Amino acid sequence: MSDALIGPIKKRRSIYTIGKRKVISEEKIEKIVSTLIQYVPSAYNSQSSRVVLLFGGESSKFWNITKETLRKIVPADSFEKTEKKLAGFDSGYGTILFFEDQKTVNDLMTNFPLFKDNFPLWSCQSVGMLQFAVWTALEAEGLGASLQHYNPLVDDAVKKEWKLPEDWRLFAEMPFGSVEGPAGPKDFLPIETRFKVFR
Ligand SMILES: Cc1cc2nc3c(=O)[nH]c(=O)nc-3n(C[C@H](O)[C@H](O)[C@H](O)COP(=O)(O)O)c2cc1C
Repeated sequence: MSDALIGPIKKRRSIYTIGKRKVISEEKIEKIVSTLIQYVPSAYNSQSSRVVLLFGGESSKFWNITKETLRKIVPADSFEKTEKKLAGFDSGYGTILFFEDQKTVNDLMTNFPLFKDNFPLWSCQSVGMLQFAVWTALEAEGLGASLQHYNPLVDDAVKKEWKLPEDWRLFAEMPFGSVEGPAGPKDFLPIETRFKVFR
């Protein structure tokens, strides 16, 4: 039974060459993301994660915001490389933006002072679980995705563009689309350096 889950987990990779070839519908992607945001666990069941799913032109807006933000800080002679990289992220179906609601996290810190320092860490863990679940589910549907971090550079412009609540803190951006190129090589550390069993 667990093989049904472990198979896609093993197959999930960072796919940078993505395209617009139709593999599944936008509605199906929407359903996957909305289901996972509900069912991925969170500390104290706080449900602190928030997601914005951008398709087509809306996704391109995100990559334009990123491009214009980076243009101000990347040296002019290396900007062409940056532009090319961003164009790659903008060549799929869309982009998923992952946030954590800071009001939820702050309220937990106030209400449970004994664990105060843990809540921001648990919030990161929770949104990481959600990213992994979505990434793996997209792979299971035959799509390719990667995980990007242009936050916090783009945070203000993103909140302004999509009129998002001030308390939503951006944690990651996941461009996705049809798989148009293979993942790169990947090394694995010897398992015995990472895993111990005692019985
Ligand atoms: C927490 C985390 C942050 C990452 N940040 C980035 C990133 O900013 N840009 C990027 O291209 N890949 C990023 N990655 C992807 C990793 O580089 C990648 O998962 C790793 O090299 C293993 O390759 P795989 O995803 O193909 O299995 C991130 C992955 C994780 C788990």
